[in-house]
Amino acid sequence: MSKSILVTSALPYANGSIHIGHLVEYIQTDIWVRFQKMCGNDCIYICADDAHGTPIMLRAQQEGISPEELIAKVKQEHEKDFADFLIDFDNYHSTHSEENKKHATTIYERLKENGHITTKTVTDLFDPKENIFLPDRFVKGECPKCNAKDQYGDNCEACGSTYTPADLINPYSSVSGATPIQKENLHYFFKLNDFKDMLQQWINQDNLQPEITNKLKEWFESGLQDWDISRDAPYFGFEIPDAPGKYFYVWLDAPIGYMASLQQYCERTGKDFDSYWNKDSNAQVYHFIGKDIAYFHMLFWPAMLHGANYRIPTAVFCHGFLTVDGAKMSKSRGTFIKARTYLDHLNPEYLRYYFAAKLGPGVNDLDLNLDDFQQRVNSDVVGKLVNIASRCAGFITKKYDNKLTANFNEECTHAFDLAVEKNNQIKSYYEARKYSEAMRVIMSLADIANQIIDAHKPWERIKEDKNRTEVHQVCSFGLNIFCLLIGYLKPVLPELASKSESFLNTEFTWENLYNCKPMPEDHEINKFKPLITRIEKELVDKMIEDSKVETAPKASDPISDEITFDDFAKLDFRIAKIVKAEHVEGADKLLQLTLDLGEPTGGIQKNVFAGIKSAYSPEEVEGRLTVVVANLAPRKMRFGMSEGMVLAAGPGDKDIFLLQPDSGAKAGMRVK
Ligand code: MSP
Ligand code: ZN
Repeated sequence: MSKSILVTSALPYANGSIHIGHLVEYIQTDIWVRFQKMCGNDCIYICADDAHGTPIMLRAQQEGISPEELIAKVKQEHEKDFADFLIDFDNYHSTHSEENKKHATTIYERLKENGHITTKTVTDLFDPKENIFLPDRFVKGECPKCNAKDQYGDNCEACGSTYTPADLINPYSSVSGATPIQKENLHYFFKLNDFKDMLQQWINQDNLQPEITNKLKEWFESGLQDWDISRDAPYFGFEIPDAPGKYFYVWLDAPIGYMASLQQYCERTGKDFDSYWNKDSNAQVYHFIGKDIAYFHMLFWPAMLHGANYRIPTAVFCHGFLTVDGAKMSKSRGTFIKARTYLDHLNPEYLRYYFAAKLGPGVNDLDLNLDDFQQRVNSDVVGKLVNIASRCAGFITKKYDNKLTANFNEECTHAFDLAVEKNNQIKSYYEARKYSEAMRVIMSLADIANQIIDAHKPWERIKEDKNRTEVHQVCSFGLNIFCLLIGYLKPVLPELASKSESFLNTEFTWENLYNCKPMPEDHEINKFKPLITRIEKELVDKMIEDSKVETAPKASDPISDEITFDDFAKLDFRIAKIVKAEHVEGADKLLQLTLDLGEPTGGIQKNVFAGIKSAYSPEEVEGRLTVVVANLAPRKMRFGMSEGMVLAAGPGDKDIFLLQPDSGAKAGMRVK
């Protein structure tokens, strides 16, 4: 019987671009949803942008636009990125919407009626000049641990420690610069502990991942604290009913965004919202999330739903974090790869396959090893899978009038039946999110098919008429098994599948893969066109190059690996004069500099892109001197060729220091 299933992925924040780390989640979910749909289930995939909160407000301020303008712009960008990665949402909305306001208000009011909301007086920091309470991110000062200057009130970017704004040394308001004072403030709280029994049961259900169960138990044992759900104006969010100047904390209305987006979907399609969220709903509700946000989804969210008289989710599926080449994604190494930068160079299905080949049901982190990525996709998808079709199709077209035979020899029949038999196993792997297992089984079937084709050497046997039947059989078998395997892969490689469907004149559903028979005698196929190309290393390299962001060195950076004296002697440092400085269109951090290396070099001029825009305007640096690495090989950057490197020091942002203008240095001097 067809099941009614609602699936969500976490709502990405509307203050930044989608990157390949996010895509682990959206690809994992999309594969699962496509699989459910292919099985004939009534499955809806819902998402939205998470548009509220202080970082979004700050980002809009920085860009000099309103938060509404920012979130509209970002939403459009997100939707395009997802569509181009073949992430097929049934609805994509925003938490800054009427539907969400309505649901957030209803849930809050029900919680309040049922006695689950309380208020408490808290001491907050207050800006006496602007007359506003200051959110953590609006208070800056010295880090209490490492004394780094200009750190935000919640954590230190230099040493990574976390603290509260009250711990900062010499705190100041980033709005007015005034020294904040402490002031009593009323906050609204959600009484999580009211849901102790219900959460206890929820934690002990058996469809949770074991690592997550353990984490939940730890949290549980350390006690369920009241959750602070109010923030003071100025805040980009929804005002709390009958609490003027108080807003819902972004994490209160964020998960309610799942409901809001479903609401919009139901209004558009005539489906019944209540049948998903009512207490007695028979539908299944699944949230896919990263392990970093488990607390919100596994404690607060079920408790809120329960307290507001809604059903709770069937399960929450957590995944781990993406690393690239074994390390956290890094802007300076070029491994913080935005979805768009990837798409500028590579086919989205490569990444979909690679993630599928590595994803399991657990919360382990997952590594995108760039060499392995190239090798794995080329070897599996191109070398094993598509190769079956490309080596068989030509003969069928040229020698057999595009027609397949269904009469295989015993060996082929056996191999085909084996591939059909694997249906159930592959299906249960998908269902259980054991994609890597599913990929392994499918590729082992492709291996068997290739071995059979190799053994019969159609490209040789075709030369003799007596082998007509044999070649026809083997190539027909090849295309039939290709058809079946691509069918199994359709949730992962939807575009390759759809191209193959037109090539083979057929359509893949799980129903017709189940009990699959060879295509009927004389089934006619179309002319084969290349379905997917190999990954070229060059393109991967270009993607990394384009992802590199010049970041000013930080005092807290660890000392780099030791170099030899000979390495050092190779560096030619010179004093150069900045004769021209210009803004670079589309670059947030770079200035384009024309450097004059002075008399001794014969007046060589170099074009250099330097990441110093946060500290200097072009007018400020024109005419100044700087140290450069003069013999650095030119490097193509996104905005043009860079022919050297400017040396500067400082923690970044406003503090990047070039040479003192009156230091007595002269352009052309060698620095050693
Ligand atoms: N806005 C919240 C979610 C609210 S859900 C009601 C949020 N947004 S996010 O943009 O930071 O992350 C969206 C999802 O992407 C989260 O599930 C998060 O775990 C996941 N990932 C973000 N970076 C990731 C990696 N580097 N690797 C894997 N998943 C990652 O959290
Ligand atoms: Zn610090």
